[in-house]
Amino acid sequence: MKKQITITILAILASSIALLGVQAQSNEITVYTGRGKGLVDPLVQTFQAETGIKVNVRYGTDAQMLAAVQEEGTKSPADIFWANTSGTLGLLSKSNTLNTLSSTLLNKATSFVPESKRWVPLSIRFRVLAYNPAKIKPEQLPTSVLDLPKLTALKGRIGWTPAYASFQDFVGAIASIHGDAKAKEWLSGMKTLEPKAYGTSNTQMLEALRAGEIDVALTNHYYVLRFVKAGYPMGTHYFQNGDVGSLALVTGAGVLRSSKKVANATKLMTWLLAPKAQQFFSGEIFEYPVIKNAILPSTLLPLEQMLIRSPKIDFDKLSDYVDNAQKLLREAGLI
Ligand SMILES: [Fe+2]
Repeated sequence: MKKQITITILAILASSIALLGVQAQSNEITVYTGRGKGLVDPLVQTFQAETGIKVNVRYGTDAQMLAAVQEEGTKSPADIFWANTSGTLGLLSKSNTLNTLSSTLLNKATSFVPESKRWVPLSIRFRVLAYNPAKIKPEQLPTSVLDLPKLTALKGRIGWTPAYASFQDFVGAIASIHGDAKAKEWLSGMKTLEPKAYGTSNTQMLEALRAGEIDVALTNHYYVLRFVKAGYPMGTHYFQNGDVGSLALVTGAGVLRSSKKVANATKLMTWLLAPKAQQFFSGEIFEYPVIKNAILPSTLLPLEQMLIRSPKIDFDKLSDYVDNAQKLLREAGLI
């Protein structure tokens, strides 16, 4: 009798431990991200503390994370793919790697929700022209980036970053909206102005702008705001609404079809679309939130004003545009 009770107690204990194990396992999710640790880690730490859901993060570039998911296939430990560019998410959608997201989640984003419904935007950056206000008056600058090559007075005074991903997104967008011939013409027109290339470093380029080595620079909006925050006078020129020079660059995330932890993954996605996380994007790194009514730092313009600036392209197809842009840039001898 005594022996039987002991066995029963042991069995109950064993099953409780097993249950705890299962619970602990299901309370962990894994994120693959192409975004930087400085951005992702503080958000993930706060989410963990608030929900008790442990988040494992694997960092790399979008391309590295994409290769990892493709190699691991349905055995991938990743539950969420959090990408730097919509192009990567577009590729994952096309290969049927991501789940369709609920409309509750998709409806939180005010703009740029893809037709595939397989990923949701998390933040937005915009292409702009930075300028040195001591040398340039904004009225000297063109309303369209396509007219920039006409500014012969800026010969040798323009900075750009042909190797940088967002610049290639932009060149890809010129070709997709205006055709390859126009993109080629723009690149060769720009070359006659002998722009200075800064590899992939926008920070180095804006440092040169600050130091007076160049007068204008094609960049992303948040780089300018970081210099302004550091106390350096630097202007942001916005091209006219809908101009390709104001292209939006969308970051976002999706849940993998192979994930067995969809509920917790959805919790994190929902949390990233709530005001606290959204305001972290804008407050810390000056990216635009995607939700309505987020409180923005005074250096950011109202979101509605920014959203109308970008031309509408199919952000899911961005990787195809980038392939084309790289071909055009190689032909022009720029990369
Ligand atoms: Fe950047």
